[in-house]
Amino acid sequence: MKALVIYTSQTGFTKKYAEWIAKRLQADLLDVRDAKKKKKDEFDQYDAIIYGGWVMAGKVTQSKWFLTKAPAWKGKKLAVYVVGASPMEAPDVEASMKKVLTDEQRGYIRAFYCQGGLDYDKMNKPSKMAMKMLISILNKKKDPTEKDKAMVEMISHSYDISDEKYIEPIVEYVIG
Ligand SMILES: Cc1cc2nc3c(=O)[nH]c(=O)nc-3n(C[C@H](O)[C@H](O)[C@H](O)COP(=O)(O)O)c2cc1C
Repeated sequence: MKALVIYTSQTGFTKKYAEWIAKRLQADLLDVRDAKKKKKDEFDQYDAIIYGGWVMAGKVTQSKWFLTKAPAWKGKKLAVYVVGASPMEAPDVEASMKKVLTDEQRGYIRAFYCQGGLDYDKMNKPSKMAMKMLISILNKKKDPTEKDKAMVEMISHSYDISDEKYIEPIVEYVIG
């Protein structure tokens, strides 16, 4: 079984998961920028293709590229893993995971969530500004809920809630 992991990552969490998955599956690893340069037939050699992107405002970065290619890869095991700053059990995870794939795509692609974190040192300026705005919106709420307060507290600084254990369902699906 030959697998390929393609990822896009700004601050490193999605890349770290890509490396964990690639190591376990002895898979090839490609940044999506390099994957885009590959010729169509260069993907023929793979039995499985896994795409990893991070969540930005509920959407998976660059998943469009993978999802456009995916119909031509229907004979392969296909998976998308999504990395976000929210803990696995947060309600917004369920909401964004529902939107990753259409019903039709769910017929031949599986989607998984992996906890990432926030790394303000590696974030670019627009991302930092977006996070600042979100914090300011939450702070300005007249009657903030306990959840709002906890969220502000959590996202006001860098944190890492990633764990290699989150790759287990992905590995199981690909080799199973
Ligand atoms: C502008 C922006 C929007 C984000 N939106 C979400 C979100 O909707 N849900 C979430 O769980 N995480 C969100 N995040 C957090 C990232 O998904 C998280 O930091 C992820 O681990 C980044 O992955 P990377 O290190 O591979 O770039 C957002 C981050 C930024 C900068």
